[in-house]
Amino acid sequence: MARLIGIRRLEQPGRAPAQRVAEHDVTFREVSKVYDETVALDRVDLEVRRGEFLSLLGPSGCGKTTSLKLVAGFERPTSGDVLIAGEAAVDVPPHRRDVNTVFQSYALFPHLTVVDNVAYGLKQRGVSRRERRLLAQQALELVDLRGREHHRPAQLSGGQQQRVALARALVLRPRVLLLDEPLGALDHKLRQAMQIELRRIHDEVGITFVFVTHDQGEAIAMSDRVAVMNNGRIEQLDDPQRIYDVPATPFVAEFVGDMNVLEGLRTAADRVQLDDGTLLHVGRVLDEAPAGGRVRVGVRPEHTLVVQDEGSGRRGRLEAVMVVGHELQLVVVMEDGTKVVSRQSRTDTAVGEALEPGTRVWLEIAPGAAVVLGPAQPAQADAAPLAAAAPSPARNPQRKEKTA
Ligand SMILES: Nc1ncnc2c1ncn2[C@@H]1O[C@H](COP(=O)(O)OP(=O)(O)O)[C@@H](O)[C@H]1O
Ligand SMILES: [Mg+2]
Repeated sequence: MARLIGIRRLEQPGRAPAQRVAEHDVTFREVSKVYDETVALDRVDLEVRRGEFLSLLGPSGCGKTTSLKLVAGFERPTSGDVLIAGEAAVDVPPHRRDVNTVFQSYALFPHLTVVDNVAYGLKQRGVSRRERRLLAQQALELVDLRGREHHRPAQLSGGQQQRVALARALVLRPRVLLLDEPLGALDHKLRQAMQIELRRIHDEVGITFVFVTHDQGEAIAMSDRVAVMNNGRIEQLDDPQRIYDVPATPFVAEFVGDMNVLEGLRTAADRVQLDDGTLLHVGRVLDEAPAGGRVRVGVRPEHTLVVQDEGSGRRGRLEAVMVVGHELQLVVVMEDGTKVVSRQSRTDTAVGEALEPGTRVWLEIAPGAAVVLGPAQPAQADAAPLAAAAPSPARNPQRKEKTA
């Protein structure tokens, strides 16, 4: 641990110590950014707490990178205020902001060695050669790259290059580290390993991280808080568990985690009758839809149970059984033709894994688990049983171009 205590104690190299008094490291007050006809950010309010790991999560084009650019100072807001550590930042040039950015493209200098890449920013700040070496060495140890000091970037794997980029940003000890889809170029296994690494590094250095990703699983797994963005707005800013359990909007409910989307008639404030006559007890309403009208309801796969005995559930036929790690995923075709994905732990299965597709089953939905997502869209043929099986930009509503 000595090396970590060392790096933590060091003053910011080449810079007067900042006054660390503000409770929020980054503040947006009604920030909008308009490019020609496109509203990239639409009156966004945001407060990033000191030292937290906050993710900006949303589909491509929702305004994540624009938000980071406004913090870094690469862009100016069209209107509204950006504050860093409680101080107005809009007129502060990027190099004077106590902020560093790690991009998906590592942007390393190919002709410099690893240690020189990391020490580059220190040199620019006039830090002595000896101190540069020491600090760069500490930063490389922090990202677990000891022994690679004299390699050139091209001699390293993608994951290692990303670590160099991280060390290069951390060595400057910024108040805030901005990370724009830094793991996007890595394959699945490496990506998962780096998620754990990044979180560890965050916890060790105590710097505020603002992390951008379009991967909901990644944001949920890594963050203290997640800001879910859509169409230039933050729809919900909350801790990961609440984002998943208590989504504030239909978009958040469908974007984060998996969700079966069914349709039926809203017969009462807390009742929806599905087309096969099943009455669902609705727990929450995310978007008002008039009683008596057709609505979309969402049910998470883990809030359903497939059983073989006739019970209170809906009748259906098993279409597929899949073992997904420690879980069993079952696809049931209901009598009205809709498909429902159900998920249950393999250790407490009501229905065994050996069950044959085609078997008659009953599907129970936990009381109060269904949420009203809003009015049914008129005659929209959407065959996908799972709205959020694999979050991808293509799954999301068409981005509406707005004019200011
Ligand atoms: N320099 C630019 N000129 C014009 N439009 C831009 C520019 N940068 C971003 N946009 C638009 O602003 C919106 C938000 O972009 P961006 O912040 O890059 O989204 P994300 O990072 O979430 O994918 C998109 O519609 C994008 O096309
Ligand atoms: Mg982006």
